[in-house]
Parts: sequence; C-alpha cells; structure tokens
Amino acid sequence: MNETPERTAFDWDTRFRDDDTPWERPDLHPAVADWTQAGELAAGCSVIIPGCGRAPELGHFARMGLAATGADISPTAIAWQRTQLAEAGATATLIEGDVLAWRPEAPADLVYEQTFLCAIPPRLREAYEHAVFDWLKPGGHLLALFMQKEEKGGPPYGCSLEAMRILFPAERWIWPDDNRFIPYPHPSLGGKPELGGILVRR
Ligand SMILES: C[S@@+](CC[C@H](N)C(=O)[O-])C[C@H]1O[C@@H](n2cnc3c(N)ncnc32)[C@H](O)[C@@H]1O
Repeated sequence: MNETPERTAFDWDTRFRDDDTPWERPDLHPAVADWTQAGELAAGCSVIIPGCGRAPELGHFARMGLAATGADISPTAIAWQRTQLAEAGATATLIEGDVLAWRPEAPADLVYEQTFLCAIPPRLREAYEHAVFDWLKPGGHLLALFMQKEEKGGPPYGCSLEAMRILFPAERWIWPDDNRFIPYPHPSLGGKPELGGILVRR
C-alpha cells in the first residue's frame, strides 16, 4: 500500500514537550489585526478557540476584553496557556480534552479557527462542523483560516474551499464570496497559504 497512513495516533503532547511545533507562528496571526480593525473581534464578545495549543491569540483576546475559551487535548499546551494567562493577569476559560465532544454552557459569538481543522483526521470533519454549529449562537461567526495544501496526507490536511463548501453547507452557513477570502502565507509549513474568511451560522 502506497497510501499515506492517517496519523490518528499523532501525539500532540509529545510535540509540545519536544518543542516540535512547526505550525506555530512567531507572533499573532495577521488576520487578527484585520478582524479587529473590521470590528469582528471586540471587547465583550465570547470566542472559542478549538485546539488552541500554545497560540498567543488566546491571551491576546482575553487581554482585549473578550470572554475567551481555549480548548486542547494536550495537557502541556493547556498548562502553557494557564501560565501565560497568569503572567499577564488575564482570565480565560481553559478546557483540557477532546474539544469535539465538548459543548459550552452557553453558545458563543465567535469561533476562531487556526490550524485545528487541518490538524484533525479528515474523518472527524463532520463532527467538527457539528461542534462548531453547536458552539455558536444563531448568527455567530466562524472566523476561519482554511489551510491550503494540494498534497495528500497530513497533518496538516488541506482544506480547499471546494471541500469546505461541502463540509459547511449553505443550509447551515452563510458563505462570503470566494473573493472575500484573504490568503495569509504561513511563515513555516512551506509558506502554504491559509484562506481567511467568515462564515455565519444560520
Ligand atoms: C496544529 S496544532 C494548532 C495549535 C494552535 N491552534 C496554533 O495555531 O498554534 C493542532 C492543535 O489541536 C490540538 N488537538 C488535536 N486534536 C484535538 C482534539 N480532538 N481536541 C482538542 N484539541 C485537539 C493539538 O493538541 C494541537 O494543539
């Protein structure tokens, strides 16, 4: 068999403990500045970051005054977020475990998707769409950064807009025009672009 095996046993916690994390950006994702300027990310909003890892966006959103929730399966990443928040004197909710099986007490205004969907095995994508739909209020926004990658296998697994339009069907999501997606090249990961755009939950 020449197929690339699905790396279901991908050990995220080992990757964090070994500092083997090529998906991490050196600073905030540039989309954060764009979405802040556009008023999408604003104090008082609630935001969920699934698979937050050690992304600095969680602490940034908390310091901005958003009610931020970060969820991750890796205890090392969650411990790192807890330390960062404490050092900054910021508050956020941290959930340790399988975020696809988790539901919040109350739905949120925003979900911030950054290299989580591309990290999970594609067979879990439907569960992801159901979870994001449940996490959001009607009219809530999915701030999506869809990783573009032609090669098969992963992680990261490519999230073409064609595949995303099937995953997030128009009966459940209001889509922007394709030309309203902004490409943000990743500084590592071979410069692969992530397409930034906003889907509205019906
Ligand atoms: C590629 S990393 C991205 C981390 C972060 N979003 C960033 O951009 O730096 C994928 C993250 O998803 C987490 N993860 C994978 N499967 C998960 C699951 N089922 N539930 C919660 N977190 C998960 C991993 O531990 C890891 O932190």
